[in-house]
Amino acid sequence: MRAASLPALRSLRCLRASTRRSSWHHLRCPARSEAVRHWYSSDSTSESGSSNSKPYYVTTPIFYVNAAPHIGHLYSMVVADVFKRWQQLKGVEAYLCTGTDEHGMKIQRAAEKAEVPAKQLCDENSAKFRDLAQAASIDNDFFIRTTDEDHKAAVGQFWLRLKHTVPEDFGIYKGKHQGWYCVSDECFYPEDVVQASIEPQTGKKIMISSETQNQVEWMEEETWFFPLTKYKQRLLDFYDANPDWITPRSRLHEVRNWVENNLEDLSVTRPVSRLTWGIRDPEDHTQTIYVWVDALINYMTKAGYGSKWHTSKEDTGIWPADMHVVGKDIIRFHAIYWPALLMALDMPLPKKILCHPHWTMSGRKMSKSIGNVVDPILAIERWGIDPLRYFLVRNGRSGTYAKDMEYSNQLMEAVYAKELQANIGNLFQRIARPKKAKWSTYEACRAYRDGKFELVTASEDDLAPLHKALSTTPPAVQTAMDELNTAEAIDVIFTLLKEANRAVALIKPWELANTCATDPSNESARAELNRAIFYFTESIRIAGILLQPIMPGKMDQLLESLGVAKDRRAFQHAVLGADDSYGLDQATLVERGATRKHPVPTETLFPPKAGIDDDQPGFSRKKSQGNLMYNTVKNLDAWEGPLEK
Ligand SMILES: *[C@@H]1O[C@H](CO)[C@@H](O)[C@H](O)[C@H]1NC(C)=O
Repeated sequence: MRAASLPALRSLRCLRASTRRSSWHHLRCPARSEAVRHWYSSDSTSESGSSNSKPYYVTTPIFYVNAAPHIGHLYSMVVADVFKRWQQLKGVEAYLCTGTDEHGMKIQRAAEKAEVPAKQLCDENSAKFRDLAQAASIDNDFFIRTTDEDHKAAVGQFWLRLKHTVPEDFGIYKGKHQGWYCVSDECFYPEDVVQASIEPQTGKKIMISSETQNQVEWMEEETWFFPLTKYKQRLLDFYDANPDWITPRSRLHEVRNWVENNLEDLSVTRPVSRLTWGIRDPEDHTQTIYVWVDALINYMTKAGYGSKWHTSKEDTGIWPADMHVVGKDIIRFHAIYWPALLMALDMPLPKKILCHPHWTMSGRKMSKSIGNVVDPILAIERWGIDPLRYFLVRNGRSGTYAKDMEYSNQLMEAVYAKELQANIGNLFQRIARPKKAKWSTYEACRAYRDGKFELVTASEDDLAPLHKALSTTPPAVQTAMDELNTAEAIDVIFTLLKEANRAVALIKPWELANTCATDPSNESARAELNRAIFYFTESIRIAGILLQPIMPGKMDQLLESLGVAKDRRAFQHAVLGADDSYGLDQATLVERGATRKHPVPTETLFPPKAGIDDDQPGFSRKKSQGNLMYNTVKNLDAWEGPLEK
């Protein structure tokens, strides 16, 4: 990059003289106190949510382009997308950034080995992640590549500010770096997390990182350093003031321990002699900026840093991020290096880090060498993206993000059959798509609007439990989602559906329908039928609205089939009776393919999948024909128990 071509950098050099004079003690003076407060207010602003007028901004990690996407990448994307859509459901403007991390030694070496230009290798692999985001219905506003020009400019500015605007001793300095370096992890490891090992293939003695088991080598070189140790107390104070900064909390404890015991200054460049594939220091041409510093800044690039704004005193747009979604392997970079770098520049810190565990298969971490990597594109082809999204976020087991999660086709099949087909699919099919059209959801909704029946008031009413579930579900879902607990939100929604299925079996609307058919003049029978159907339809409509962030495509299909208008699908509409004019009239039904034989066009929400075994424990097709099924998330958990490690 050409530093001189950036006007912002020119002004930076002027800034240099004045800021050099300031020292750390000036932190307490009024002029700077505002910026300082950013670090301490991050938690309280995220809790107040609606009082925060800034749009919601969530990020995924940017994915390293040295390998093809796996299910873990898909999971990170889906989690971020679900929370973006959740904010939108609540009426909050929201942005999502995902993308690819493309610099560094691993890419440089892979390109050399494949004898292709590094950029070409990146182009090819970045496209795979872009395609995955599309196939996964990720509603990303940005897809960043660290090889993009705007990002390189942002990194250049960030870098020069680290050099020239940070008070003495707190900015970067040049020093000699030596230590155990791991090529595949792209980082140095402190002495105490390095151990001797034997390479299985050769029997040769090697040194490895005890964290990742990857080989490390001794390296000495001249580089720039970020004085991380000087930020120790401020990091600790920040963690203590924001105990919920990381979900789950246990990760914050790990991070805090690490800061307390392992902090060292961070080497933030690599000699050009060793690494060329990266962003050059705009002034010191012998140095390439460390790939992690480069990568972390991506979150700010797309928030306008370096183009729309340059310091925290300006309008920082959607920055800070409301949430970084990261995997547990990269928590240290996000929870230690990143906040320290931001503190150095007086930048507001991200408000939240959601740190998720990994996916395992047969109890083992997925790895190419074991051959248990799940190809997300194949999984999407097999199951459809919505069932897969559902499966992934449902498995944020008990919402704690604490334990690794098990992926298997058997589990996926069970969830598909027992939760999607048997619970929501079955209810939808029976109530909204009755084969002989003995009732009509359109008519039931009109009967409600016209006051043909009363809602539940008495506790002995057969519909009373469902009435109660309808009123408690949306606030319970809101609480769960705001606590990032997708598993709990799903559980709450399925408790509602289970209650609706129970009420259908109890009330037997088909018997009421028979009475109506025998005596069409019986108004009270008609009203009773419509009242029951209205409650069942409302259960489907409200569950459908609430499940949109998780299964956007299927829930669009469901709400479309119910005739719910596009502008009546927000969280505020997920209230019993909040929408009294949905439903498809006869003319629309005919337009959509209704015939005399099939008065309501039949369509299946969750069609049978090849390979699903009807005789699995807990699921029987025969039983599902006679009775509605009430399988719940909890039942399934019990059934799959032995698979858990
Ligand atoms: C109308 O139907 C209800 C059942 O919903 C029944 O109890 C009632 O006796 C019926 N009325 C007449 C006049 O048949």
